Amino acid sequence: RVLKFGNLHLTEPALKVFVPDGDVLARMERVRNMSVNDDDVILLTFPKSGTHWIWEMLNMLISGKAEYVSWTPERDFLDLEGDNLEQVLSPKIIITHYSIKYLPNNVFKKRVKIVHVSRNPKSVAVSFYHHLKATGSYINHFPETFSEFLPLFLDEENHMHQYWFSYVQEVETFCRKNPDYPVLNMKYEDVKRNQHKEIKRLAQFLEIEASDSLVEEIISKCEISKLKTVRGDASAGGKPFMYRKGVVSDWKNWFTVADNEAFDKVYEEKMAGSNLTFEY
Ligand code: A3P
Repeated sequence: RVLKFGNLHLTEPALKVFVPDGDVLARMERVRNMSVNDDDVILLTFPKSGTHWIWEMLNMLISGKAEYVSWTPERDFLDLEGDNLEQVLSPKIIITHYSIKYLPNNVFKKRVKIVHVSRNPKSVAVSFYHHLKATGSYINHFPETFSEFLPLFLDEENHMHQYWFSYVQEVETFCRKNPDYPVLNMKYEDVKRNQHKEIKRLAQFLEIEASDSLVEEIISKCEISKLKTVRGDASAGGKPFMYRKGVVSDWKNWFTVADNEAFDKVYEEKMAGSNLTFEY
């Protein structure tokens, strides 16, 4: 089965993640009623915001050891494995790209901690382009160039799975309306710039003791070059694009001047009511 949107033709595996069609909506309904435990942690991200990287850090903090766990994030991915997740023992990290409004009801009832990682949307768009291009088997007609892809990312009618501009603002609104709810907002660029501080902040949020030496070991184990070696083949069914460049400003190599202007125009319009800022 293939679902079309714009120039993209997505087949079943990609549909599950990217397009909220009828079947996906049914699964989302099951997800809504799923049980979670109060010591679980939700890792909430728009795709390509550094999910896999922060997930490694979270695991190491929770176990208190700078060692890689034997499974990959895909095991505990709400969007993919929503039905089996209840069987995974707690405490577990539940990873999701679903919008905050689609999380299981129990998350909010039990005040399960949410770690939200965001990233500047120009980098997200570039990373997404490479991800979708690499998973070519999902897509029949993928745009050749980044400039052809960008309009799909920017178009609210044509968006993939979630619309970045809505996704981050829904979290922002949630936090504003629920100032006491335990959400930790982390930014990819902050983690890049100051890993020690950000990992400490993460540990404090999780109420975990993390010594300086453990934090330093975690930083070292989570370097992209190491993750590429350890996870590159295992994660996401052997697709090493999950660990690509891992830098802040690679988008500048892909955006033309015209792309950048088009982007900034949409950004200004869509983010008009938001206080969010991003580093490019
Ligand atoms: P790039 O494509 O810009 O390199 P996600 O895990 O949410 O899919 O995010 C993937 C992005 O995070 C990719 O960005 C990937 O390279 C980057 N990434 C993965 N591991 C990283 C690490 N250890 N340090 C920095 N960035 C990392």
